[in-house]
Amino acid sequence: MNIGFLASHTGSNMQAIIDACKSGALQANPAVVISNNSNSGAITQAKREGIPFYHLSQTTHPEQEKLDQAILDTLLKHDVDVVVLAGYMKKLGPKTLSHFKGAILNIHPALLPKFGGKGMYGIHTHEAVIEAKEKESGVTIHVVDAEYDTGPVIAQVKIPVLPNDTPETLQARVLELEHFFFPETLQRIVLGEIRLPRNQRLRVWFL
Ligand code: GRF
Repeated sequence: MNIGFLASHTGSNMQAIIDACKSGALQANPAVVISNNSNSGAITQAKREGIPFYHLSQTTHPEQEKLDQAILDTLLKHDVDVVVLAGYMKKLGPKTLSHFKGAILNIHPALLPKFGGKGMYGIHTHEAVIEAKEKESGVTIHVVDAEYDTGPVIAQVKIPVLPNDTPETLQARVLELEHFFFPETLQRIVLGEIRLPRNQRLRVWFL
């Protein structure tokens, strides 16, 4: 399984997936990294790991349609099977969404459908979870559609929100869980234990 990454910032999830590929825990190949941010940690990691990388953004392609085409062409050039959004802060264009329909995955640091959508990113998500006095939070991996955080959920894992949690402590525990859960979920896809909607067969919930 060739993975194409789209990442905007740190890329710690991307690094966890690359590490799992290197250790053999994930039988997949990190094929290409695309970032909309030329200074992102994701690009630094790609350089260090010897993975082909591209800066594709509104700066390199001011017209949305051309940016969409450039992203799609890059994923196709590297024979990508599954697209992984690892902290990608932009919406994908219609051509990329349509070509990779059902094979684009995003990780979200809360239990969707709660605490998702516009503005629910980074520390804001965890602030909202604590503000709502939730007893549980967790990680959701879902298939991407044209909106933020709305596509079909393929896997979720829960953790308790502790009485003395702050948004920062909750964020740290959830991120640690993400680093384990994203590679594991991808390996379940490799093994056929989780079928992407693209394959239209069984969908396994891992709760
Ligand atoms: C993660 O919390 C992920 O759930 C969200 O964006 C963050 C990315 O972090 N979609 P990193 O860039 O992988 O460190």
